[in-house]
Amino acid sequence: MDTLWCFIIVWTGLLSLTTYAMPPPNPVRCNQIGCTLDNSYGAWGDRKDCHALNITYPTTEEELRSAVAFANQYNLKLKVVTKFSHTIPKLACPSTASGNAIMISTANYDSGIEIDTENSVVTVDAGVGLRQMIDKVEEAGFSLVAAPYWEGVSVGGLISTGAHGSSWWGRGGAVHDHVVGVSLIVPAKESQGYARIIRLEAQDPLLNGAKVSLGMLGVISKVKLSLEKGFKRSITYNFTDDSHIEDTFTDQAKKYEFADITWYPSKHTAVYRYDNRVPLHVKGDGTYDFLGFQPNSIPISKSIRATEKAMENSRNLKGKCTLAATTVGYKKLVANGLKNGGLLFTGYPVVGRQGKMQTSGSCLYSKGIDTSCAWDPRIKGLFFYESTAIFQATKFADFIRDVKKLRDTNPDNFCGVDIYNGFLIRFVKGSQAYLGQSEDSVVVDFNYYRADEPSTPRLNQDVWEEVEQMAFFKYGAKPHWAKNRNLAFIGVQKKYPNFNKFIAAKKQLDPQNMLSSEWSDEIVFGKELTIKGDGCALEGLCVCSQDTHCSPAKGYLCQQGLVYKEARVCRYSSPPSMVSDINQFQV
Ligand SMILES: Cc1cc2nc3c(=O)[nH]c(=O)nc-3n(C[C@H](O)[C@H](O)[C@H](O)COP(=O)(O)OP(=O)(O)OC[C@H]3O[C@@H](n4cnc5c(N)ncnc54)[C@H](O)[C@@H]3O)c2cc1C
Ligand SMILES: *[C@@H]1O[C@H](CO)[C@@H](O)[C@H](O)[C@H]1NC(C)=O
Ligand SMILES: *[C@@H]1O[C@H](CO)[C@@H](O)[C@H](O)[C@H]1NC(C)=O
Repeated sequence: MDTLWCFIIVWTGLLSLTTYAMPPPNPVRCNQIGCTLDNSYGAWGDRKDCHALNITYPTTEEELRSAVAFANQYNLKLKVVTKFSHTIPKLACPSTASGNAIMISTANYDSGIEIDTENSVVTVDAGVGLRQMIDKVEEAGFSLVAAPYWEGVSVGGLISTGAHGSSWWGRGGAVHDHVVGVSLIVPAKESQGYARIIRLEAQDPLLNGAKVSLGMLGVISKVKLSLEKGFKRSITYNFTDDSHIEDTFTDQAKKYEFADITWYPSKHTAVYRYDNRVPLHVKGDGTYDFLGFQPNSIPISKSIRATEKAMENSRNLKGKCTLAATTVGYKKLVANGLKNGGLLFTGYPVVGRQGKMQTSGSCLYSKGIDTSCAWDPRIKGLFFYESTAIFQATKFADFIRDVKKLRDTNPDNFCGVDIYNGFLIRFVKGSQAYLGQSEDSVVVDFNYYRADEPSTPRLNQDVWEEVEQMAFFKYGAKPHWAKNRNLAFIGVQKKYPNFNKFIAAKKQLDPQNMLSSEWSDEIVFGKELTIKGDGCALEGLCVCSQDTHCSPAKGYLCQQGLVYKEARVCRYSSPPSMVSDINQFQV
């Protein structure tokens, strides 16, 4: 215990210490045989199948068009990759079945940012980074109202997966609902030069397909977003008890333009974000430099991971709970990373410009060797799953009640999720986008430990599996396109009333499925596995129906949920020789 405490104190003390850092690795690697794409977490790395013959790096819209034309002329499959590759499912992986695929990177197609001050819109090249765009927009006296909390994304990539912040006001929290135009490069006949650019404007019904298109409708060359006059925000976090989340979340979202709620179930704590816009003349030069996205000391990230692993191996739930308590306490102390003027948090409310308060990611930038993003795959740092479920607002209260029931069977079972960010609850408004949310919705994210080896079961994994199945199956929540494990996508088509319109748009623009692959089809068509392999439930590739889908050898058997009885989860039941462990660890 002593070493644990020591370690926690050192960790929390150094968490926000910035020295030097490694920017994230290039997600693409090429050799004589071709190129392999990985995501930023390195989560696809050991499966060498995200592969293409070649990659090109266009710098202009015309070069981008020629690359599409080239692929079309030679019957090659095609996927767009970005310099970030921050999406978790393998949507950007080209077809390996055909073998003849190329990748087009937007990494160097990232300079065009044109602001039309008269019409309050900005038009950017698809490879432009979110931060780059926001800084330009703010310089010109405007603000972009919605953005994901993480800034390490390209504009083309973020709209393609429906990325969002949090708001039920105005156009709402999803960035694609601020999109008023998209230029799309689609395959064309030989007489048209094999590829053409189509410019979709606000009134064009195809724009509803192109706003969230999972990279499958065409290659996005430009995105036009609506802006508002520059503004500031005033943010206060209220760390309080969690007894009324289900009764008050609607009021929160109505009362505060950028409300969100972070729920730490094991600690019975809810953190309400009171967050409204204020005029530019209100004093304050604050920033939101979210703690989880700050540079982390590499040795510390490694030792946190090692500690987490050790706790997993020894089934040390109490240790996890101590870590969770310290983490939540530290977040309260530093207001999650809000800073009043530059370096420090000195008190609420924190007021600052929209461009500095909505999105962050300081771990992306510094140079050197000592620090990195905590999940950098080169350092054996954090490795975790991210589940994100999008609920119809009317169903959300019952989901929370169910999770509370599950929590109350043993609150310590939720410590593993509270070490990360608990349950982050955000708001997204109803949208016209075919693959967006058709009604006002509530989005819940939760992250949790992922083992290095897919075959290694995890402490309390039955609990996350039950929450996951409750969300996606009992309450019909939709999976965020950029996150989640495969099972979350089962039946996803039926959850989108306009799914057929999206498919019709796809047939019209990409009739030969040039931009599809077995990887993206697996996500978009969300078919259940027909042959369930051993251990498939551990990685979220299936819902278990027999013990072999879990890990009988390690004591994990397929059992029913504790609250949602229809759930089928892998639960630890000690082997007979370890009966004494049962009392200690079983629920
Ligand atoms: C730490 C972290 C925090 C996050 N926080 C949030 C959050 O707060 N809210 C949220 O909603 N999401 C969040 N995300 C998810 C993130 O917003 C998405 O993964 C986003 O799509 C990543 O953008 P990217 O530029 O890396 O795109 P990629 O992951 O590279 O690509 C995404 C998809 O878009 C396609 N694509 C990219 N560019 C084009 C183009 N020009 N034309 C056609 N297709 C294209 C790709 O082929 C792929 O299918 C987070 C992710 C991480 C890693
Ligand atoms: C890959 O593409 C580049 C530029 O587009 C080209 O010069 C090169 O010959 C290609 N390599 C292969 C193996 O096709
Ligand atoms: C924090 O929330 C609690 C519960 O809703 C409330 O009673 C309290 O007044 C709030 N505190 C602040 C500072 O707003």
